[in-house]
Amino acid sequence: MSADRPITTPESPIIEPPIIESPIARLGRLTDLATPFAVRTLATLRIPDLIASGITGLDELATAAGADSDALGRLLRYLAHRDVLTEPAPGVFALTDIGEQLRDHGPGGQRGWLDLDGLGARMDLAYAGLPHSIRTGKPAYETVHGRDYWAELDARPQLRAYFDALMLSQQHLTAPQVAALYDWTTAEHVFDVGGGSGELLIRVLTTHPHLRGTFVDRPIAAAAVTGRLADAGLADRATAVTGDFFAPLPPGGDVYVVSRALTDWSDADATTILRRCAAAAGTGGRVLIVEVLPTEPHVPHLAPFDLQMLVTVGGRERGLDDFRGLAAAAGLGVATVLHGRDGLVLIECVPAGA
Ligand SMILES: C[S@@+](CC[C@H](N)C(=O)[O-])C[C@H]1O[C@@H](n2cnc3c(N)ncnc32)[C@H](O)[C@@H]1O
Repeated sequence: MSADRPITTPESPIIEPPIIESPIARLGRLTDLATPFAVRTLATLRIPDLIASGITGLDELATAAGADSDALGRLLRYLAHRDVLTEPAPGVFALTDIGEQLRDHGPGGQRGWLDLDGLGARMDLAYAGLPHSIRTGKPAYETVHGRDYWAELDARPQLRAYFDALMLSQQHLTAPQVAALYDWTTAEHVFDVGGGSGELLIRVLTTHPHLRGTFVDRPIAAAAVTGRLADAGLADRATAVTGDFFAPLPPGGDVYVVSRALTDWSDADATTILRRCAAAAGTGGRVLIVEVLPTEPHVPHLAPFDLQMLVTVGGRERGLDDFRGLAAAAGLGVATVLHGRDGLVLIECVPAGA
């Protein structure tokens, strides 16, 4: 029987043979840059929001987006062939269900991430330096953008605000679980090291009124969280201070939380951070690692996030055993492991041998 002829049976009249794509065509799909940049340009110009607001004609869209009408038409028709848009009448465009995803849904949404003027796309563009990262094991953000990722966030408050809003949208899911899962009853003073938006500390303190807290992060984050603590009515129980988790941290806490920060760093750097927390916590203190494991069992190459961490900040994805290894290298032992929803894990560490 010929391989390219449909197979027919009395019950199912036609079974189409599988379409076999040539290796060169599959390679083309893997390496195409036109589509990713076309989609990002559509998002950057906010065309999906304009279409959703009722502006659907090409010339009107070009005027509203500040674009060249002919060039925009070429972009929109290309994306109509990529199932992002449709062209129901000549020069009139509508969104498909994929295009709908590109409407503005705030910092957790796809549009903000793909906006070529924003932080997410700058992180993606760091992939242009992937050969550097693979040769050296170091991040490529600086080689592509001129300064390292954290320095960029320090220097550009708008990007920092986007980053914090993104972290906040994730903390809305994880902070209530951290407040509920961990036994905070014996703690008095909690430090949140590299605390980001401050949401985790705020949620833990508002849930457990006996606790006091200190937020530690880079200057721009500490300044923003001072206001957030006051807004949450916590000014008398919590402070936000500038600190560097590669330098000695303020002592005096009995739980030092490091939430989703170790993933940003190499094993050597992550071990230093844990050592700094352990030193500040002292013999009676605890270090609580909070992370979201992407898959269980942990398979880092299932998602591009591991490579993204490498090129952007020199970090990596880790599984539970990797965190146990980091803790041991920092002179800590794992006392308790608590699992939350969607991969959330809380790893309570105490001084080794305690
Ligand atoms: C991925 S965010 C996690 C934020 C927060 N803990 C959370 O779970 O949402 C990492 C945080 O580490 C902070 N950070 C980076 N370098 C730091 C340093 N040297 N010392 C203290 N914090 C630092 C960043 O400013 C950022 O807020």
